[in-house]
Amino acid sequence: MRSPCCILTRTKTIVLRLSRHALHRRLPHVYSIRCQDLRCFCTDHSQSSKPYYITTPIFYVNASPHIGHVYSAVTADCLHRFKLLQGYNSRFATGTDEHGLKIQQAASNAGKDPLNFCTEVSDSFKHVFQRCGILYTDYIRTTEKRHRQAVEHFWTVLHSKGFIYKGTYEGWYSTPDESFLTPTQVTDKTDSEGRQIKVSTESGHKVEWMKEDNYMFRLSDFRTKLLDWLRLNPNIIQPVNFHHLVLQWLEDDIPDLSVSRQKSRLQWGISVPGDPEQIIYVWLDALVNYLTVVGYPQNHSQWWTAVHHVVGKDILKFHAIYWPAFLLAAGLPLPKTIFVHSHWTVEGKKMSKSLGNVINPLDAMEKFTVDGLRYFLLRQGVPDSDCDYYDDKVIKMCNSELADALGGLLNRCTAPSLNPTQVYPQFCNSCFPKEPSEGLRGKAVSEDYRMVEAVSALPVLVEQHFENLHIYKALEAISTCVRMTNAFVQRQAPWKLDRNNPGDQQWLDTILHVSLECLRMYGILLQPMVPDLADRILSRLGVMPEERSWDSLNFLMKCEGRDCGLEGRALGPDLGVLFNRLERSQGKGRTPKMATQHKSKS
Ligand code: MSP
Repeated sequence: MRSPCCILTRTKTIVLRLSRHALHRRLPHVYSIRCQDLRCFCTDHSQSSKPYYITTPIFYVNASPHIGHVYSAVTADCLHRFKLLQGYNSRFATGTDEHGLKIQQAASNAGKDPLNFCTEVSDSFKHVFQRCGILYTDYIRTTEKRHRQAVEHFWTVLHSKGFIYKGTYEGWYSTPDESFLTPTQVTDKTDSEGRQIKVSTESGHKVEWMKEDNYMFRLSDFRTKLLDWLRLNPNIIQPVNFHHLVLQWLEDDIPDLSVSRQKSRLQWGISVPGDPEQIIYVWLDALVNYLTVVGYPQNHSQWWTAVHHVVGKDILKFHAIYWPAFLLAAGLPLPKTIFVHSHWTVEGKKMSKSLGNVINPLDAMEKFTVDGLRYFLLRQGVPDSDCDYYDDKVIKMCNSELADALGGLLNRCTAPSLNPTQVYPQFCNSCFPKEPSEGLRGKAVSEDYRMVEAVSALPVLVEQHFENLHIYKALEAISTCVRMTNAFVQRQAPWKLDRNNPGDQQWLDTILHVSLECLRMYGILLQPMVPDLADRILSRLGVMPEERSWDSLNFLMKCEGRDCGLEGRALGPDLGVLFNRLERSQGKGRTPKMATQHKSKS
């Protein structure tokens, strides 16, 4: 059995070997990922100024925020917090997409002035995000002056370089998707009143035939460049199934793209510079938001080379084809990564107003708490395929993993009955020697070493999962370790030991020390996903804010014969149950209510 130190050394060795191999095969992306693996064990502050820029899509203001929107935002928030944890200088932008036909129609249906209408809904997104702990650094609205100026400049650059020309667009248009579609992208359908209509094959939304004099963008010029870019950088679009999908789309010719609408049809938008009769296509307008946020056209360079987008699968075409083509035309660097996620259905059905199954995130947070909702979305949300949401699933997951496993562990290991002095207990090397074979007085058994080995390896594993946008796998790995730690406590049953017997007392404290060290690791690693819950764990353990960074993931130093700064320090105050068990209320409405967490035997 190896000691934690051996494990760290072994991990580094594997990593270095992989890196050389990757370099040899000229796979720079693999090399850079592996180098990051190493960083978690080094106190390297040189990267503290390294920029990282993450974005969510900007949200249409035609409807109120729902659980799907919150999922995009929580995913990006989690990536942002993870980079902050690692010491990056991370910037995180979100906001609202307020122009276009769809918003114009929504405002008119509501009988409201478009800007007032947009402000109301934009504020409701802001409110939900603040409630949900979305730590954005920038909130952009496309109706802001700074954005109009950025879009006008961007347009002028494309036009002056000859990528925009005046033409006629004739074809299908879907207003709900604000998307132009080719004949192969539409299908026949019979609507609820028995009429034959055409719909978008992908979204199912109704399409209309339109013919207009528009400005056209030379999208077709970029097909080969986009293919080269994606083939040379197989990690740009993640998960990989979406990368393959885009490559497949690019196998066929792509037509030039209409990038404006006649003012007679669309008034709510940004006018084409020099031609007030045309309004800029809402997707060109919206995509430029990512540049506006970082100060385009004057000050964007530093941040722009570090940009990563989180997008839902429905808007992949706009981000993986149109956007890179616009950027290439403007002579700007392309995004580093496009993280794609799938959609949430509710009890097996697509979320829709007409079905009345839209989940309001404020209600969900009220029922399950912010941490409960965030944990469920990130733990259950698999980016590659759609996920189903229903209350019972949230309740079961939160109860078993947060209330029972994690909360139970914290409660047991900090209980005054086991730890009457309420200090971070002493570790005894002879009870838990570095190597299992060392010392005759060792009390730890092989499963205990296996648990320690798993927790030591956790940061590397979590980081790898984050690199691939597999946040759910990172949470699964943490949850597995929590289970192992609970099994360790159960196996060693510290409550059976006698504090008045010096031998027992040393072993009891060692069991608690190891368990609190595990909890400290879980607390630090969980900060990006469930920040409040993680804060409560770390505060109860007496871990200071400056001891919560990636560099503090130095697990069980005492076992290595090194100092543990926490040993002997007073624990933080007991603020009660970590996560209250949730219970379904009886009868209609399926609304769960809070129940108290059951106290452990200890
Ligand atoms: N305004 C555009 C984006 C422009 S970005 C330059 C847009 N807005 S949206 O409000 O319709 O969608 C915003 C995000 O929410 C997208 O990533 C979309 O995939 C996501 N979701 C909308 N419904 C969803 C689910 N049911 N499940 C998960 N995410 C969903 O598109």
